[in-house]
Amino acid sequence: MGKTGGMPAFARDARTAAYYDQRAGEYDEWYLGQGRYAELNPPWWHEEVSRLVDLVRALPPARTLDVACGTGFLTQHLRGAIVGLDQSAAMLGVAGERVPTGSVVVGDALRLPVADGAFDRVLTGHFYGHLPADERAVFLAEVRRVAAGLIVIDTALRPGVEPAQWTDRVLNDGSRHRIYKRYLTSDQLAAEIGGQILLAGRSFVAAAVTWDHHRKDG
Ligand SMILES: C[S@@+](CC[C@H](N)C(=O)[O-])C[C@H]1O[C@@H](n2cnc3c(N)ncnc32)[C@H](O)[C@@H]1O
Repeated sequence: MGKTGGMPAFARDARTAAYYDQRAGEYDEWYLGQGRYAELNPPWWHEEVSRLVDLVRALPPARTLDVACGTGFLTQHLRGAIVGLDQSAAMLGVAGERVPTGSVVVGDALRLPVADGAFDRVLTGHFYGHLPADERAVFLAEVRRVAAGLIVIDTALRPGVEPAQWTDRVLNDGSRHRIYKRYLTSDQLAAEIGGQILLAGRSFVAAAVTWDHHRKDG
């Protein structure tokens, strides 16, 4: 792995949780290419974000749990009965305004406060790719318990980028944070979740899998 940082952790890491809570008010600068991201994001960024939003908009209406929904930047484009879940109350403060017809709930992605089979699908954006192997296994088991399918959106692996690393993050107040992150090809993501590629973009990848284990008619 690139920078050394001890055993990788994300969803179970208290410092990572505090970082995202602190970042909530400025999180969308990344998607919008504002502030420090005006220089950090690649020239094709806005085009890629539009492709991603179009993909989410085009999904058929369904009972969807958006796990680690953050500010709801993607959640707001989902159709159907929508619930956004995140560990950060500050993130959900933003998401709740954005998704007025849905609901938001504070919760842990590795212990979803949701009944078995309660959703048609889980969607998760820029969360799965942060998880080390042990957290991925718990997350995928939880998703299978609560939903009949999963859509994962994440950051594409670009040439010259270390596929798994501790990344250095700086917030607008100058504070520095270290966050574990993996970068994925669309093939790798689809293979890991046992599904199909939905998007193979320059900045983002997405894959989907459906299971029939919650069907009540068979
Ligand atoms: C990179 S942001 C992704 C936000 C949004 N889904 C998106 O696509 O932009 C990662 C999110 O994961 C959330 N998170 C981290 N650990 C979590 C956990 N154990 N349970 C629920 N959410 C968690 C953070 O609070 C943060 O909002």
